[in-house]
Amino acid sequence: MTTPPAPDHDPAPGAEVLTAREVLREPAEVAYADELAALAAADDRPRPPRWRLSPWAVTTYLLGGTLGDGTVITPKYLGSRRLMEIAVASLATDRALLLLGVPGTAKTWVGEHLAAAVSGSSALVVQGTAGTPEESLRYGWNYARLLAEGPSRAALVPSPVMRAMESGAVVRIEELTRIPADVQDALITILSEKTLPVPELDTQVPARPGFNVIATANNRDKGVNELSSALKRRFNTVVLPLPDTLEQEVEIVRTRVAAIGAGLALPADVGATSEIERVVTVFRELRSGTTADQRTTVKSPSATLSTAEAISVMTNGLALAAHFGDGTVRADDVAAGLVGAVVKDPVQDRLVWQEYLETVVKDRRSWADLYRACRELG
Ligand SMILES: Nc1ncnc2c1ncn2[C@@H]1O[C@H](COP(=O)(O)OP(=O)(O)O)[C@@H](O)[C@H]1O
Ligand SMILES: [Mg+2]
Repeated sequence: MTTPPAPDHDPAPGAEVLTAREVLREPAEVAYADELAALAAADDRPRPPRWRLSPWAVTTYLLGGTLGDGTVITPKYLGSRRLMEIAVASLATDRALLLLGVPGTAKTWVGEHLAAAVSGSSALVVQGTAGTPEESLRYGWNYARLLAEGPSRAALVPSPVMRAMESGAVVRIEELTRIPADVQDALITILSEKTLPVPELDTQVPARPGFNVIATANNRDKGVNELSSALKRRFNTVVLPLPDTLEQEVEIVRTRVAAIGAGLALPADVGATSEIERVVTVFRELRSGTTADQRTTVKSPSATLSTAEAISVMTNGLALAAHFGDGTVRADDVAAGLVGAVVKDPVQDRLVWQEYLETVVKDRRSWADLYRACRELG
């Protein structure tokens, strides 16, 4: 029962081995390997069993800071320190962690970085959907072997959860509430008994210390497959909020767009923060239903208009500016992305947007270029 789990990044036989810079998106533990190594070296605080870092160092990895030797740890999460401390502390207990929030509040992002910092790998992940089978949480079978040899450990195909239990690592379960309720129930035994029964082999797989679960769920999905109270009791819930202020949200977008632009080698710059500020202002005003000065009520569209979407509007703008513009993001580089993000429903949302354009955007003198660019899109 103690077969070591397969390495997570084994290339397929014959596959070209890719170096770090040759993949489109590196997992957190690869992208930030230097920071993680520096933290591990500097970290003299107690580490829970099998943790790569102490809870203090994990929190520093998430929020950023400067180490004694001058190494700069970049902030991954911009927001409340206390929330991250609560999340990290939960992982050090026998309760699992549930990151809850509207779309685009960095639930997946924080989960990946937490797993990378705590266990050294963010690769153990189950993507929750309406079609997620129990095998994704427990184990399945290699049917060729099962038929040839009968049930044996070699014929069993462990799920990411089972591999995390065996290796004492953190496993991530994305969009937990999209998983059908009866499949979710498989987690109850795992989280309360810390063991996975394998009746076919008349045995069970105990979880090693260091095992834990980070689940994410969207609170807009509420009611889809709400967590049973039995399962809820096994989780500490941390609600990730939308950014409080315009400045915070602009800072998140600026940091992420700069990193994404560098990763894609886009020869363009985000330009003055003012372009980001306008996009984020539009998002916040439409989201809250009132203009920043609180003077005008506006209608909200059906779209979420999350920070994550503001990031993609700006990234698209960056690509347009790089390839078809003068290298600096301007109003006509963001207009199409902006309208696309707001207008999800072609009838209702278009009306909402037209009204906002004509009553708010048009009246702002310094927004004349944005007004024109949006009008030109028809
Ligand atoms: N508070 C924040 N700090 C840092 N990045 C954030 C924050 N909020 C949103 N983001 C960014 O938004 C993007 C999408 O987040 P994601 O984790 O996919 O959202 P969710 O899973 O909550 O829907 C990520 O690139 C992330 O960096
Ligand atoms: Mg997510």
